[in-house]
Amino acid sequence: MIDTFAQDVLAGLTAENKYLSSKYFYDDKGSRIFQEIMNMPEYYLTNAEFEILSMQSQQIIEALQFSTPFNIVELGAGDGLKTFKLLEYLVNSNIKFNYVPIDISQEAIDVLTKRLKERLPNLNIKPKVGDYFEILKVNKQSDYPSLLLFLGGNIGNYDENKAKDLLNLFNDVMKFGDKLLIGFDLKKNPILIHNAYYDKHGITKRFNLNLLLRINRELEADFKIDDFDFYCHYNPMTGNVKSYIVSLRKQTVELKALNKSIDFDYDELIWTELSKKYSIDDIQSLAKTTSFKVNTNFLDCKHYFTDSLWEK
Ligand code: AVJ
Repeated sequence: MIDTFAQDVLAGLTAENKYLSSKYFYDDKGSRIFQEIMNMPEYYLTNAEFEILSMQSQQIIEALQFSTPFNIVELGAGDGLKTFKLLEYLVNSNIKFNYVPIDISQEAIDVLTKRLKERLPNLNIKPKVGDYFEILKVNKQSDYPSLLLFLGGNIGNYDENKAKDLLNLFNDVMKFGDKLLIGFDLKKNPILIHNAYYDKHGITKRFNLNLLLRINRELEADFKIDDFDFYCHYNPMTGNVKSYIVSLRKQTVELKALNKSIDFDYDELIWTELSKKYSIDDIQSLAKTTSFKVNTNFLDCKHYFTDSLWEK
């Protein structure tokens, strides 16, 4: 049986303009490399969002105007470190709520649950593993208001149409009065953005090339990663950071598990990722076309990032 990973890789590598989806970056090794990215000083997103949740959790919770108890449902909780600040504020303020982290990775959920139980023994945590929308379907039946969290700038990986589809799906599972807190990376000095993605340490390059190693392992391919490089480019006019793998030679790669071979030209590209940057106006119009109202933008002091609070 050929699984979706195999199907997607094959579709991407046989397309006129080759591509691979960034959602496949996050195998165990890729998730660890992403941790390294988040620890680089140039990758300002992590610190900016951490600052917002450290300094403004009280304001965020007050803006909800929720009756208690309420639900906090986190989509793609990952290591949950930034969310910790929000949870810590709530627990220390004796506010009654349930925390429902959702992630596709059982391992990520286990690690997160264990750490949170140690650090916040009074937290009411109901972790869920699986697909967001299957789990979110029950949200409408809850007697309590819900805050959905979609943090970290993950929305940046979606192009305009995909972002709209996703936000419409969120809207469908939300009750009237429920709220959504979304992390958007803001348009800013292009040099700062360039340095965050085209990093001088080569960590983002390793992050991209790790996907070829994953294909080698899972699809019995023979990518020689020294024959590939990494390039990325920020276009301040569109707000798009686009990342690519570059073939350094004319070469052929075998995908043994699929019984296929893929030809690469000299300098041919594989597009791997979109990391979209927004202005406050872009956020406003995205909310409007998906039937949301922007309640408040919570920005860090340098105005690099916003956690944008939307309501249905
Ligand atoms: C996890 C999607 C927010 O696009 O900034 C970091 C992933 N890619 N460096 C981003 C990523 C290259 C990241 N997100």
